[in-house]
Amino acid sequence: LQQQVTPWLIMAAGTAVIGSLQFGYNTGVINAPQNVSIISCQRCLSLIKQIYIISRFSEPISQGTLTALWSLSVAIFSVGGMFGSFSVGIFVNRFGRRNSMLMANVLAFIAALLMGFSKMAASYEMLIIGRFIVGLYSGLSTGFVPMYVEEISPTSLRGALGTLHQLGVVIGILVAQVFGIESILGNATLWPLLLGFTLLPSVLQCVLLPLCPESPRYLLINCNEEILMKLRGTEDVSEDMQEMREESLQMKKEKAVTIPELFRSSVYRQPIFVAIMLHLSQQLSGINAVFYYSTGIFERAGVSQPVYATIGAGVVNTAFTLFVVERMGRRPLHLIGLMGMAVSAVFLTVAMALLDQLRWMSYVSIAAIFSFVAFFEIGPGPIPWFIVAELFSQGPRPAAIAVAGFCNWSANFLVGMCFQYVEQLCGPFVFIIFTILLLGFFVFTYFKVPETKGRTFDEISAGFRQSAGRGSDKYSAPEDSTA
Ligand code: GLC
Repeated sequence: LQQQVTPWLIMAAGTAVIGSLQFGYNTGVINAPQNVSIISCQRCLSLIKQIYIISRFSEPISQGTLTALWSLSVAIFSVGGMFGSFSVGIFVNRFGRRNSMLMANVLAFIAALLMGFSKMAASYEMLIIGRFIVGLYSGLSTGFVPMYVEEISPTSLRGALGTLHQLGVVIGILVAQVFGIESILGNATLWPLLLGFTLLPSVLQCVLLPLCPESPRYLLINCNEEILMKLRGTEDVSEDMQEMREESLQMKKEKAVTIPELFRSSVYRQPIFVAIMLHLSQQLSGINAVFYYSTGIFERAGVSQPVYATIGAGVVNTAFTLFVVERMGRRPLHLIGLMGMAVSAVFLTVAMALLDQLRWMSYVSIAAIFSFVAFFEIGPGPIPWFIVAELFSQGPRPAAIAVAGFCNWSANFLVGMCFQYVEQLCGPFVFIIFTILLLGFFVFTYFKVPETKGRTFDEISAGFRQSAGRGSDKYSAPEDSTA
């Protein structure tokens, strides 16, 4: 690689992905205890019960009300995420990418305080509102971070650096799972700290962000070559500048694009459809059925230490996110990931169905869940988050990221809310639904998703413009021309 990974580039990307870490942490933090609570754990129910009971309930609350309040505390996070991701466009063009990230931390502060003090104030409303606000923050982050990281990266490193967002997410989940162990913070005394912890990464990000450069693509209007020199570690930034100028010229022709225009214009219709489908493939793969409910799944699969198996899934999740490198294109990685998940889901189903006859099937189910998660992180985990910035040039990019993020969070909410009920209906066969969806997304990706690796933003949009011009929605994936 001619273009080096400079300290500034790493510092800027590393600081940005603190936002991804926060998203992951808050995904993992409440879901780990919830798994346990809904299925069997009196411990975690009692954590939350504390608030609900200390609150104004004078009579004992029924198990049903508790579960409902708890589900609300969990799911309201994705509702916040839906609103947050949808609002990305309002911020990034007005305040810039970096300052938008900085401002969003206000939300994380408020949320951390509300959740952290909810026990002291004996108010479950504070917990629920805090979860909603940290969801807003996370939704904004899932737009801001990939956009910023993609925009500061040289073309040849966009995949590797784009994956940092997902790496932040998975590390966040893992940290939350570990902190959630009873002897660490997941106990009746310390759980407010577990939830309030989210304050610390925010403080760190607020200290570091002002030292980071604004996205040079955003600043191009001011022609800020200096920032680019700093990020690239060389004075020779002419090629990058040229590429950005082309993108910006194109943008001037296009103007800023609104959300309805994305769907009306024949030029954007195809890429937005691809972006939405990729995000749906990420969530409807069933990944969060695992991250929200794995302890219960492991328990029913006869695993004796389900909590540790869940943490094992978090470790596999993190390890495999590190695997995505620039060696292969986005398409093959996404395809391998989807197919691998589909096959793993079949193994899991077989294992669950045969458990009564063959006890050792519990080991097969652990292996199946681990490989399900590993394949997720090869493609469907990281790629949708950064590919949307690649599929669109500056003009439509914020609107497209908002739409794709909104679809992602909505599907996340759907799986989080429905999985338990569908599982009650389908029993061990529940993962077959995900297998079917995964195969559908595989076919879609094979026929409709173009390769973006090694191509400039402008080349990618030109590809879509051409195919829209031809009046055909067939897209031939161009050869993987590595930069
Ligand atoms: C992705 C998904 C998120 C999921 C995580 C698991 O970031 O968007 O919902 O929990 O991967 O690693």
